[in-house]
Amino acid sequence: MRSLIDILELSTAELDKLLATADDIIENPQKYAHKCDGKKLATLFFEPSTRTRLSFEAAMYELGGNVLGFSEAQSSSAAKGESVADTAKTVSCYADIIAMRHPKEGAPLVASMNASIPVINAGDGGHNHPTQTLADLLTIHREKGHFDNLTVGLCGDLKFGRTVHSLIAALRRYDNVKFVFISPNELKIPDYVKDSLKKANIEYTETTDLEAVMPTLDILYMTRVQRERFFNEEEYLRLKDSYILTPEKLTTAKSDLSILHPLPRVNEISVAIDSDPRACYFKQVLYGKYMRMALILMLLEVE
Ligand code: CP
Repeated sequence: MRSLIDILELSTAELDKLLATADDIIENPQKYAHKCDGKKLATLFFEPSTRTRLSFEAAMYELGGNVLGFSEAQSSSAAKGESVADTAKTVSCYADIIAMRHPKEGAPLVASMNASIPVINAGDGGHNHPTQTLADLLTIHREKGHFDNLTVGLCGDLKFGRTVHSLIAALRRYDNVKFVFISPNELKIPDYVKDSLKKANIEYTETTDLEAVMPTLDILYMTRVQRERFFNEEEYLRLKDSYILTPEKLTTAKSDLSILHPLPRVNEISVAIDSDPRACYFKQVLYGKYMRMALILMLLEVE
């Protein structure tokens, strides 16, 4: 029995297999419509979500399975003080696989150590969000056709952005990927991420100036400044609009730039960009469902 807590648990061959399965689901959805007949997915969301929870649920329904769960901690026995470990043991009696989001880093790992069914990390605090990375990878794969030789700009909250941390961990395994970290000084990429890149001789630069690096980018991954990770509201208000992508700022961008965003968007991408063919973030939402379908099949060992 296998869980997915961190994207690094997947080998490059396994990522390739997930991408190939997702491509096949897109081409032949009817082939997969009964793959999970009789199986149940439990979505245990202790933190708000629209895309991750609903795409997991849509994924399981499209595989012929069923879904149970809760969408806030207050409606579960966590509100009465039940531990994550006991919740995982309990839900193992009702479901075949768990998708868990939790504000505490490491909570899905604790769940996986206590559950008797696979647990998928659907986002833990500011730490990791491996299934968002699967959505990001399928988007890049379908837009670019390869992962090698890309210059990837990551912009916004690089300190608390769990999607950023997981995406870097996934992309750094490919050849000649260069990272450009664009953030205010207060929200810089953590040192442990930079240290791991330095050790592996992977090129990266840091800047506060998005427009200066725009012409160099193949991928621009925008992120939201996350109010829920700040202890100080004034600091959040000061930083929240550090970067707002507008059509004017794209005038120097490559014609085949791909603009990604894990969403939700607050203010960091102008809606005027939504109709630009380089905007990929709503495709990314859809691709997330296909990759979650592929992942459920892999973890449930469905042929
Ligand atoms: N990208 C993402 O995790 O979105 P939700 O918070 O809506 O699930």
